[in-house]
Amino acid sequence: DMGGHDTYMHKEISEQPDAVDRVLRGRIDDRFSTVHLGGLNLDAREARTIRRIKILGCGTSYHAGLIGAGLIESMARIPADAEPASEFRYRNPVVDPDTLYIAVSQSGETYDVLAAVQELKRKGARVLGVVNVVGSAIAREADGGVYVHAGPEVCVVSTKCFTNTVTAFALLALHLGRIRDLSVTDGKRIIEGLRKLPSQIEEILKTEEQIKEIAAEYAGAQSMMFIGRVRGYPVALEASLKLKEISYIHAEAYPASELKHGPLALIEPALPTVAIVPDDDLLEKNRAALEEIKARSGRILAVAHQPQPKADHTIVVPKNEDELDPILMGIPLQLLAYHTALAMGRDIDKPRNLAKSVTVE
Ligand code: F6R
Repeated sequence: DMGGHDTYMHKEISEQPDAVDRVLRGRIDDRFSTVHLGGLNLDAREARTIRRIKILGCGTSYHAGLIGAGLIESMARIPADAEPASEFRYRNPVVDPDTLYIAVSQSGETYDVLAAVQELKRKGARVLGVVNVVGSAIAREADGGVYVHAGPEVCVVSTKCFTNTVTAFALLALHLGRIRDLSVTDGKRIIEGLRKLPSQIEEILKTEEQIKEIAAEYAGAQSMMFIGRVRGYPVALEASLKLKEISYIHAEAYPASELKHGPLALIEPALPTVAIVPDDDLLEKNRAALEEIKARSGRILAVAHQPQPKADHTIVVPKNEDELDPILMGIPLQLLAYHTALAMGRDIDKPRNLAKSVTVE
């Protein structure tokens, strides 16, 4: 049942205010400015002994994990990174007893992730799951974890589950942070930011008409460039993946700081750039990248907190706390991919060559 929408993708994008509300519900503890995550199976004493966090996932879940690693590093000050699960498995990684491993999966059935989890467990590592489907294989195999409560996702490409997974990582980062060095004040600040997310997502969804008009301009493009820095870079990676999956337009994602080390050679009027430009400590750096692109006559679409003079179009999104901005900045780009693919007549819910859940290697 598409509930009045033409595609499941559109329905699932539209459901995000409610979905995010669900991942937050019942978990916030205002008294201690922290969150309770019932299924974690990790007490405070154990949480304090973690020296490193390694996040594993595939595709969109890997991208959510990259943002999650950033959230954990900034809030809990635990070194964290994300890696595609199957790359991890095949490089014979050093499995360290002080590392907490986190497997991320919408379906909870992705073979590459499940196999990595089983290998880690066999070696005695502690593995948590950040999973959507309750009771799925990865959820059962993990020592504990956080359900992302996005609800059923039918469209082959992931949208609401990405947003909820990143929000779940913000909860986990806040929880670990408050056990370690995150202050009560900062905890409160993050909680206020989390509570604003559903209504801010509503606001973003209201820009759909504007995004549709922009998408009509990009529908014929041969290729597109997506750029961002630090927190914005995984947003660029995910937006680029979404566009390729459903429109079949070739797209690349780069850190904006890497442009001058190579990809700037590609910039010309026929290769539009989508830039993530949050109002944070990197604003001026991001703006400098827009200038470099404009100087080569590149077209620019900015996703930003204020109109960007060098951009041909800016989709303005509401500002949240710096840490939580990536959750919001991905959403207009789901709509951009959607309307670009729609304008090109693609089969949005069932893109060619792809399956919803990849249970083979
Ligand atoms: C992208 C997409 C895939 C999945 C990947 C992992 O839109 O749907 O890249 O994210 O196959 O799937 P899960 O999260 O079920 O492990």
